[in-house]
Amino acid sequence: MNVYDSMRIASMFRAMGFAETDDAKAADAIVLNTCAVREKATNKVFSELGRLRSNKKPDAIFGIVGCVAREAGTDAFRRIPELNFVLGPQTYHKLPEIIANPGVKLLDIELPGLEKFNALDNSAFKIHHSAFAYVPIQEGCNHCCTYCIVPFTRGRELSRPFDDVMRDVHAAADAGAIEICFLGQNVNGYKFSLANLIRETANIESVKRIRFTSSYPTEMSDDLIALFGTEPKLLPFLNMPIQSGSQNVLTRMNRPYSLELYLGIVDKLKNIRQDIQISSDFIVGFPGETDEEFEQSCDVAQKVGYINSFSFKYSPRPHTAAALMPGQIPENIKKQRLKILDGILNENNRAFNESCVGKIFECLVEGPDKTGKHLIARTPYMQQIIIPKTDSALVPVRVTSANKCSLRGEVVKNQS
Ligand code: 5AD
Ligand code: SF4
Repeated sequence: MNVYDSMRIASMFRAMGFAETDDAKAADAIVLNTCAVREKATNKVFSELGRLRSNKKPDAIFGIVGCVAREAGTDAFRRIPELNFVLGPQTYHKLPEIIANPGVKLLDIELPGLEKFNALDNSAFKIHHSAFAYVPIQEGCNHCCTYCIVPFTRGRELSRPFDDVMRDVHAAADAGAIEICFLGQNVNGYKFSLANLIRETANIESVKRIRFTSSYPTEMSDDLIALFGTEPKLLPFLNMPIQSGSQNVLTRMNRPYSLELYLGIVDKLKNIRQDIQISSDFIVGFPGETDEEFEQSCDVAQKVGYINSFSFKYSPRPHTAAALMPGQIPENIKKQRLKILDGILNENNRAFNESCVGKIFECLVEGPDKTGKHLIARTPYMQQIIIPKTDSALVPVRVTSANKCSLRGEVVKNQS
């Protein structure tokens, strides 16, 4: 969601006549988009602001948006008086106001819901590379996981009207998007049917790949699960975070699903579509997590064989119940557990990547690699694959080699 917000902010600035630069010293405007999910990233925001304020042009417009801005509010102006604006994750569409009135200090950390989607000029929305578009379908979250700050920073869950979403899908397709990714904290809880959105999007001839992220296990409807078997444009890859493999920890996290239910969904999906792969997020060192409970996370990571997954050390956050729970785990134990789980997730990636060697996948080109000699593309499983230059945006590629991070491949000329 933050990546999407950053893309929108960049496109708003482009529409106002700005161009991007990597050189903060040369910039006429500096916007720091921020995430408050973990403490470490939050702390970095103020040290980065401190660094930027002494390096920026004296008259550069300078501000902070996103969840840390919402958390800090007026305090951000106190800590960094040079800031021109502090805007929350649902109010950054007000940025043009500050560009028009650079002398004013703007603070807006309210949660006006879907307003930003309607205020943003869709025609000015340049997707970050031509063949791919994120389309947000929801804002906020109604789940109350005891560790998570998102319901406080982004507010209650709101679904965008179906027609508004489809208008964005058509705009993206008209701008050349071949792949559409529906976005939300909880996309499968979309009020007006994610399955119907996917079906309608699949009817657009030029759209070839559809995916969505992120999913909440109890909201995987049978209709949506069945679609993996019937809709070839829906990629065989699902992000469905489990967070922990321990039933007790899940209860303390206020994630009220049984492991049986979760694993049952995975089984259903694998029966419907044998080549499906699942990705997850894990939190290690949640308050009170015993060695045995942690091992249950390792077991489930191995059992499901997750790919492209993330594990995080539990980070106590303001407003959250878990921050006040007894049994906070020492940092060194969290570190050890993270290393073990990361080892398993990396091994899953390596094994899966190696199993892909010799196979042919339709891959979506993202752009040139660092050397400029090759292209970076994505397989249907979002693996990065390095391929020779080609003019097409979607190409059949035979995987020729693999390691734990990426693949290499050759474009298949005559597929028969
Ligand atoms: N500490 C560590 N990880 C967290 N996440 C959310 N809140 C926290 C926290 N307090 C992780 C979850 C979520 C991902 C986006 O961030 O795994 O799925
Ligand atoms: Fe946070 Fe839980 Fe909502 Fe995900 S489902 S955004 S982890 S509260």
